Amino acid sequence: MSDSVSLPLGAMEDVRRENEKRARRGEPLGVFVLTFGCQQNEADSEKLLGLASMMGYRPVETPEEAALLLVNTCAVREHAEKKVLSIIGGLQHHKKKNGALIGVVGCMAAEEHRLEELKKSYPYVDVTLDPASLARLPEAIAKRLSGGGRSFLRTEEATLAEGIPPCRRDSRRASVSIMYGCNNFCSYCIVPYTRGRERSRSAEAILSEVRALAEGGAREILLLGQNVNSYAGECDFATLLSRLARVDGDFIIRFMTSHPKDVSDRLIEVIGREEKIAPAFHLPLQSGSDRILRAMNRRYDTARYLATVDKLRAARPGIVLTSDIIVGFPGETEEDFEATLNVLRTVRYDMVYSFLYSRRRGTPAATMEGYLSEEVRADRMRRLLDLQTSISAEIGKTYEGRTLRVLVDGPSKNPELYSGRTEGGKLVHLKATPADVGEWKTVHIDRADAYAMYGTVKESEDTK
Ligand code: 5AD
Ligand code: SF4
Repeated sequence: MSDSVSLPLGAMEDVRRENEKRARRGEPLGVFVLTFGCQQNEADSEKLLGLASMMGYRPVETPEEAALLLVNTCAVREHAEKKVLSIIGGLQHHKKKNGALIGVVGCMAAEEHRLEELKKSYPYVDVTLDPASLARLPEAIAKRLSGGGRSFLRTEEATLAEGIPPCRRDSRRASVSIMYGCNNFCSYCIVPYTRGRERSRSAEAILSEVRALAEGGAREILLLGQNVNSYAGECDFATLLSRLARVDGDFIIRFMTSHPKDVSDRLIEVIGREEKIAPAFHLPLQSGSDRILRAMNRRYDTARYLATVDKLRAARPGIVLTSDIIVGFPGETEEDFEATLNVLRTVRYDMVYSFLYSRRRGTPAATMEGYLSEEVRADRMRRLLDLQTSISAEIGKTYEGRTLRVLVDGPSKNPELYSGRTEGGKLVHLKATPADVGEWKTVHIDRADAYAMYGTVKESEDTK
């Protein structure tokens, strides 16, 4: 477990006082955060909004209204980085128009070469903060507001900041970070370089946060970390989960992401035993070829992975399994790729998130031989998607006619329907009423396809 740093209260107070003056002059004090990437980033953005609120900013719905504009970035794939850079380019206009302060935070702000690029080619960016430096936002803003220069902050010695009250968008589905960083160094992945080494929050702090959320009416709590299975607070992850499952309230617990090498028998036993834990497991496979898994430095083979899947299914029948797959890792042969398809056929995941391999500067895989052409990668991706779509559609059919608990989120894109998720996390479009939103409802599944289920809330039925 790591020591935590205290919040920079002095800087926060300086900004708050300055903002009070601005408010008296009628100047706008909106804060807008644009978030890219993973759920951890979504959770970090809620903390940034929390910090900004403590400094007197007020969350607003559009960047036009903002006096502080933050872009929380992702560096996992090249394509997303390019998109973010062009969006940052567009923010210049807000600076010119209403003098907004602009901050670029998150994983891109941790990459040496991006930082240089931001310094030189994006002069209107006032602040950058890597993921370990988010709590230093007040410091950077205080400096800028008092006429100081731009800040490019990176925290080498990663620390934890407790005590930032997140500004949660959804009180029914809440996320709670349990650990930060990653020690695994999968050869393709930039995250260990951008988010630093693993630091676990204290179990007591997590428990009191979860208790407060449950008392506030949370219906689903998502525990977050790059590799939750290596959580190391006062207890391990299996014990943390069983303690959290004893907190009172009508909520279920989800967690992500898990590393297959760290899924212990005790964890599987807890998942089998505790009803409060969602019947869902996201278990990134990445590749079904043992040769490629070795090159990826994943430290498991397919036999061990499949054994874990069997144990999970035995402990919790019907558990919803999802995975991440990287298509076209350097040197991946047709045979390696076929091995991945075979694991998909064997496991029959409910859903798979598939990614074209993207070369990340500074990672071992970036200099490996056998970089595959765009055509080969795209062709394999299409074949993988076709296979998974047919598997997902077949699984969908097995849900037709069943009755499931669904947490209703709100209106769906189709104006006549609402959308929600089952306890296993599967998407359901349903006929419901406004009163059902934010509640667990018993839903009859009328039909299903590869992507979603369609159902109807059963009238006046208590779902507990
Ligand atoms: N290229 C493609 N996909 C990647 N991922 C991580 N790094 C890369 C990369 N360089 C994928 C992995 C991971 C998910 C979050 O993103 O599948 O599980
Ligand atoms: Fe990246 Fe591997 Fe760590 Fe996941 S476990 S964040 S894929 S290095």
